[in-house]
Amino acid sequence: MFTSRRIFYLKFLIIIGAVYVFAYIFTNHNTSDIIRELQQSGRNLAALDRQQNSADQLDPAAGNVQMVQEELVIIPTMKSEKALEALNLVSYNESSSNKDDAELITLNKVREVTKCLDKPMHPKIQQRGDYWVLYNYIMADKRYKCHESITYTTHADYSFLDNLVPLLERWRGPISIALHAPGSDFAVTIDSIGYLRDCTSSLIREFVTFHVYFSTKHVPKQVPQHDKVLQETYNCSLSPPYFNVSNDQMYKSHKKLLYPVNVGRNVAREMAQTHFVLASDIELYPSPNVIQQFLKMISENKGPLLKKNPKVFPLHLFEVGVNQQIPDNKTMLKEMLDNGTAVPFHKKLCPGCHNVPKSKEWRAAKENKGLHVFHVGKRNGYYIHWEPIFIGTHSDPLYDERLSWEGKSDKMTQGYALCVLDYDFLILDNVFLVHKPGIKVYKKDPKRALLAAKTNQLIKKIIFPELKALYGVKKGCAV
Ligand SMILES: *[C@@H]1O[C@H](CO)[C@@H](O)[C@H](O)[C@H]1NC(C)=O
Ligand SMILES: *[C@@H]1O[C@H](CO)[C@@H](O)[C@H](O)[C@H]1NC(C)=O
Ligand SMILES: *[C@@H]1O[C@H](CO)[C@@H](O)[C@H](O)[C@H]1NC(C)=O
Ligand SMILES: *[C@@H]1O[C@H](CO)[C@@H](O)[C@H](O)[C@H]1NC(C)=O
Ligand SMILES: *[C@@H]1O[C@H](CO)[C@@H](O)[C@H](O)[C@H]1NC(C)=O
Repeated sequence: MFTSRRIFYLKFLIIIGAVYVFAYIFTNHNTSDIIRELQQSGRNLAALDRQQNSADQLDPAAGNVQMVQEELVIIPTMKSEKALEALNLVSYNESSSNKDDAELITLNKVREVTKCLDKPMHPKIQQRGDYWVLYNYIMADKRYKCHESITYTTHADYSFLDNLVPLLERWRGPISIALHAPGSDFAVTIDSIGYLRDCTSSLIREFVTFHVYFSTKHVPKQVPQHDKVLQETYNCSLSPPYFNVSNDQMYKSHKKLLYPVNVGRNVAREMAQTHFVLASDIELYPSPNVIQQFLKMISENKGPLLKKNPKVFPLHLFEVGVNQQIPDNKTMLKEMLDNGTAVPFHKKLCPGCHNVPKSKEWRAAKENKGLHVFHVGKRNGYYIHWEPIFIGTHSDPLYDERLSWEGKSDKMTQGYALCVLDYDFLILDNVFLVHKPGIKVYKKDPKRALLAAKTNQLIKKIIFPELKALYGVKKGCAV
């Protein structure tokens, strides 16, 4: 729908400021040298970028690509209206009317099994490292008790907000999203939220809670109180503010700011009201009915679910061609994999990052009724650099806020902690995530590679020793 944007990303250094201060206080001088170098190289990269300003695009959903130094170009999307209509029909019947007894029993069992605690949802303004965060700034109408759903938690800037409606049409549950909105990006961000709430699907108001954050060095000129924002209805004959946004329009490009991906990830996850969270990237759309099926499985509480180890539930990830519709179920996905219109996510870019244990067997297995654990994997051996996207809980380690999206490896530190803590990875059988249509074209990007190399140094010299001190070491675990 609102696609073919030319977002072009490669920006720059808010987060490094935080790193600098941190390092200066807590470590020796060598450390701050590393960080200064990192800062400088980020600026150089930014300058280079501006000169070359092309239509290249980078994709936050791709994030975390450590091993191969390439850049992604997103190809525009078309989505099948018919498929969405079908989805809508099915889900309306399931979610709208009175919850039947069976569903209530399931949910009560989920509460028993998880022993979860409800969390209130209130707006608050709070500092977080070098950032100001407007938590629960614009809230969904619907509230949840901790056992009642799964929250999809994610992060973006306004130029990615075209994904929200297609995502919700499939997810149909609570979404907690943190938006990076420094300086004059703030006003456009608020307009975008206004447009989404007033001019698109009613699902937005029902389900989506927006948090907004910016660096203390890039505070917007005007920040309305949470109860004064979006008081006027948006003029829906205007085009969506997030449509076809070019790099030059964005404040963060002018100021060469890096995208502080992990601040956004953590803010969104911490605010989720439900016990279970799916921390994901906004361009990854889930297969339908994940929530109901997953909670049913939890309520049955058997098999590998009974093991004592801490656990998370990874989903398989796929990409589909630009004009393809997104598969509605595993049966359709299998057909698309067979005829080449779908491929595993980032198959070429970084197989080690997204390859899931027993993926051949998963692919061969027929879709069946309900949802089950397909295989219990570990993040070691061949999967030592695996960056799974999973349904987890608030107990799982968060993400390191010193890492930026541009520097890559932004989920590796969480992966290390999960490994040392001996997490079981309970891979699910009939559900999956599909990236917004458009299989990436691969291109070398020496600029981003340089920043990634510096980030690796930061991880190796500073962050990894910290993780070893905090979580310990375990054979077979690596960042
Ligand atoms: C939804 O419910 C209505 C009325 O109960 C029914 O006519 C319709 O066929 C149902 N649709 C689906 C997709 O099940
Ligand atoms: C809404 O925007 C359209 C297109 O710019 C404009 O013609 C119209 O006057 C606006 N309506 C209001 C109420 O501002
Ligand atoms: C997007 O914006 C560019 C200019 O920034 C323009 O040339 C192009 O036609 C626009 N695309 C669409 C689909 O509106
Ligand atoms: C899978 O989705 C397709 C397309 O919507 C549909 O025709 C088919 O019946 C579905 N299969 C199953 C097993 O649900
Ligand atoms: C591939 O399979 C999908 C799902 O069955 C189908 O919709 C699509 O038309 C097929 N494409 C080709 C090129 O065969």
